[in-house]
Amino acid sequence: MPRDEILQAVRGAEGLLVFPHDRINGELLDAAGPQLKVISTMSVGVDHIDLEECAKRGVQIGYTPGTASDSVAEFNVALALAVCRRIKEGIDAVMNGGWGRWENALYLSGIEIKESVIGIAGFGRIGFATAKRLKAFEPSKILYWDVGPLEYAKEIGAEFASFEELLQNSDILIVCVSLTDGTRGLFNTEVFKKMKRSAIFINTSRGAVVSQDDLYTALTTGQIRAAGLDVTTPEPLPRDSPLLSLPNCTISPHIASVSVNTRYAMAELTARNIIAGLKGEKLPAPACN
Ligand code: DGY
Repeated sequence: MPRDEILQAVRGAEGLLVFPHDRINGELLDAAGPQLKVISTMSVGVDHIDLEECAKRGVQIGYTPGTASDSVAEFNVALALAVCRRIKEGIDAVMNGGWGRWENALYLSGIEIKESVIGIAGFGRIGFATAKRLKAFEPSKILYWDVGPLEYAKEIGAEFASFEELLQNSDILIVCVSLTDGTRGLFNTEVFKKMKRSAIFINTSRGAVVSQDDLYTALTTGQIRAAGLDVTTPEPLPRDSPLLSLPNCTISPHIASVSVNTRYAMAELTARNIIAGLKGEKLPAPACN
């Protein structure tokens, strides 16, 4: 819904179901009114919600942690494979009459996950679930960067790395961090320059953790090999975005969590959050307050 319609529609509501593209701030809370008791976002990310402002006004906030880990992890694998094996370029060749015009024996040759170093930035539920699946492809190593070494990483033999080590060693770097003040714009020129020139960069977290202009430069000047993005800034990505013109950039429309099972699970938890909030009870999945 356009913003002005949302601001009208929320008036007098006691509970709201929202999505990551709905900005929940003082303006929206004012428009809703003081009777508002609960908001639940049908998402794992809560970066679109001013949690402090909601807490100040006594509005409970719910979200859907854990519901999307498997779905997003599978999508991370799918996107990593698609980029490693240049599937977008292959499909484009088929659609545009390029099939058969093999330029040389390495035409559309990709890289394998086997023997590659996988790097995961952010080793929470999604990062771990992704690493667990990628282990089956026999990478040479799985590195992860997080607040510090994590006990559960040992289960799959993933090794803790500093951010620098992660950048310098990863052949395939998958971003699974939440968007916070600390991660906004984290992946910029300075960072891309530290990565291998052969590296593949995958992001299914939030578009704002990446400087898109810097990523464009990295992809066009050979600082890194290729990227796969399920999230961008803004969303939808305008059709004239320079990133869309790049053969080595595969972009999907924020669908990593969109499997039927997961969407039902997210919807159910969102509903349970709202019902609890309306009854004045503690939410099954509170985002903070
Ligand atoms: C999430 O759950 O935060 C996904 O990015 C979108 O629904």
